Amino acid sequence: MTRIIGVVSGKGGVGKTTLVSNLGVALAQEGAKVAIVDANLTGANLGLHFGLISYPASIHDVMKENASLPDVMYKHPSGVDIIPASLSMEDITTEPKNIRADIDEHLSDKDYVLIDCATGLDRETTNALDICDEVLLVTHPELPTISDALRTKTVAKEYGKKMLGVVLNRVNKKDEMKIENVASFFDLPVIAAIPEDSTIRKSIESKNPVVLDNPKHKVSREITKVSDFLSGKVRRKEKNLVDKIMDMFKW
Ligand SMILES: Nc1ncnc2c1ncn2[C@@H]1O[C@H](COP(=O)(O)OP(=O)(O)OP(=O)(O)O)[C@@H](O)[C@H]1O
Ligand SMILES: [Mg+2]
Repeated sequence: MTRIIGVVSGKGGVGKTTLVSNLGVALAQEGAKVAIVDANLTGANLGLHFGLISYPASIHDVMKENASLPDVMYKHPSGVDIIPASLSMEDITTEPKNIRADIDEHLSDKDYVLIDCATGLDRETTNALDICDEVLLVTHPELPTISDALRTKTVAKEYGKKMLGVVLNRVNKKDEMKIENVASFFDLPVIAAIPEDSTIRKSIESKNPVVLDNPKHKVSREITKVSDFLSGKVRRKEKNLVDKIMDMFKW
């Protein structure tokens, strides 16, 4: 069954698009069939993370009923199907439309459809919430951003969505909000804590998600925690020296 997952936040610029692009690739690398959808109709940029700059049609055309989803799907070499939004100013007034029936009809072969949502709680976001079944919440580990994210969580719950958990982004060693505190604040698991790191900006510039550019990087490892969480895969923990010695002697 296709899992349709919205990636939301309270405040803008917290890393939703960065997570969707990297998570999409991480899931595809595990063998999943993945489509990623730019539902940020007035702030489109998901395609740009992959160097997808000019395209004949976009999700705006689907919403305007000028195209259907297969017409606006662009395959990235990683295997991810990108459904971008229009970068044109003319499309900025397009009325958000619930395209869930189109997704059910045309993307039923996908394991995951990840929806990159707009910021705030206006029609763009609530329309995206209508489309998805499950939600990942992205926030920085700082109180004002967390407080905004909590409002979004409340709305998503009112929409009947399954809250999967929280992804902390731009985490610094000095952050005073500890992961346990964030988890209890949201009453949700903290799935990953992506560090503040310049590799993210470099990867956006190179138009290649970090998980492709630098799979061993700490950022990539945290993204993989999210893909593992979704797929239910439990990675074996690296054994410590004592365990290794015990293994050698079969204790
Ligand atoms: N972990 C990180 N470390 C450093 N920079 C980051 C990190 N995550 C994201 N960024 C930077 O923050 C910027 C905003 O990220 P992104 O566009 O993913 O946020 P967003 O939540 O999708 O924003 P919007 O609400 O505008 O859609 C990126 O352009 C990137 O340069
Ligand atoms: Mg975004």
